[in-house]
Amino acid sequence: MSVLLSTFAERIVHWQLDHGRQHLPWQHTTDPYRIWLSEIMLQQTQVSTVLGYYERFLNRFPTVQDLAAAEQDEVMPYWAGLGYYARARNLHKCAQVVQNQYQGRFPTQSQVLATLPGIGPSTAAAIAAFSVGERAPIMDGNVKRVFCRYFGIYGATHLRATEKQLWDLAHQAVALAPADLNMSAYTQGQMDLGAQVCSRGQPACERCPLQTGCFALEHHVQTELPTPKPRLKQAERSCQMLIWQQGNRILVEQRPDTGIWGGMLSLPQFDTPAQLEQFMLGQGTPVSSAQKMAEFTHVFSHFKLHITPWWIQAPAALYEPKPDELWLDSQQIATAALPAPVTKILEGILATGLWD
Ligand code: ADE
Ligand code: SF4
Repeated sequence: MSVLLSTFAERIVHWQLDHGRQHLPWQHTTDPYRIWLSEIMLQQTQVSTVLGYYERFLNRFPTVQDLAAAEQDEVMPYWAGLGYYARARNLHKCAQVVQNQYQGRFPTQSQVLATLPGIGPSTAAAIAAFSVGERAPIMDGNVKRVFCRYFGIYGATHLRATEKQLWDLAHQAVALAPADLNMSAYTQGQMDLGAQVCSRGQPACERCPLQTGCFALEHHVQTELPTPKPRLKQAERSCQMLIWQQGNRILVEQRPDTGIWGGMLSLPQFDTPAQLEQFMLGQGTPVSSAQKMAEFTHVFSHFKLHITPWWIQAPAALYEPKPDELWLDSQQIATAALPAPVTKILEGILATGLWD
């Protein structure tokens, strides 16, 4: 991999100079203030929207001193419409820190930039690379996509372990690149490649300078990478719980050590009504004699469990409990540590007076 890693940055530079974006206003300056402003504006907003705002903002606040001297209220109208107003507040705060702690000279070292309000590690690196050519790698959303596909990195990109892998590779790619690597073209090139070629959905691999050595292209897994963040929607499951009452006793089972209610006593539980029916038929007690109780939902931190209780009253029968099962009478039930929804079901049954 190291041979291909050592040409990774150069290939992006060559591509950027031939095919990347060249005429964005912030590409024609090395003024860290102007570059910083563009990077903050571009964080969640597309280039075409930013262009007009950038122009108006710099006309009104041409230097960091001008911005720091303004009131917050004077700044807001120049941001209105860009959204994410915390960015505008941090922007103003950052200008004041630069004014007060750095004598109005905007820092250019990535390490220093990353300590300023509203500037994360990737934005800090971008400002340092664009303004003074510091060999600091970026790693924003677009770049993560390129890296995950090229290097075959699996794992959702918000996870710490994945992030670390990506940053390590980003540092290696710069470390192995020639000493005269054009850092602004490399930095801009990664952004442009992510936006214009290695895009979300179906990337345009036929136009990509990274074809040779690209894991995703070789294995046809472009649409699988980057690994998507797990859906926030809670998983849902359903189960059937059996209340098998024989006189004063009901059957309980010990849950396996792992999984929900690990090791606790609970009601016999089945994934489907058919499985419950199968079990009861095996005991010579048809489920048609069961009373299906109201379904309810128990919410765990990571999923919802829809529970349908089935209450079967049967005369004492010959049923030999399995090793993990036992009969408990109502007194024993009262003191047993049962899962909350089971207690709820059994209290409902006790309330009927048909079990004592
Ligand atoms: N998004 C963030 N920074 C950018 C830049 N310099 N050019 C284009 N899009 C960007
Ligand atoms: Fe992305 Fe395709 Fe280029 Fe690989 S070859 S980096 S998948 S555009």
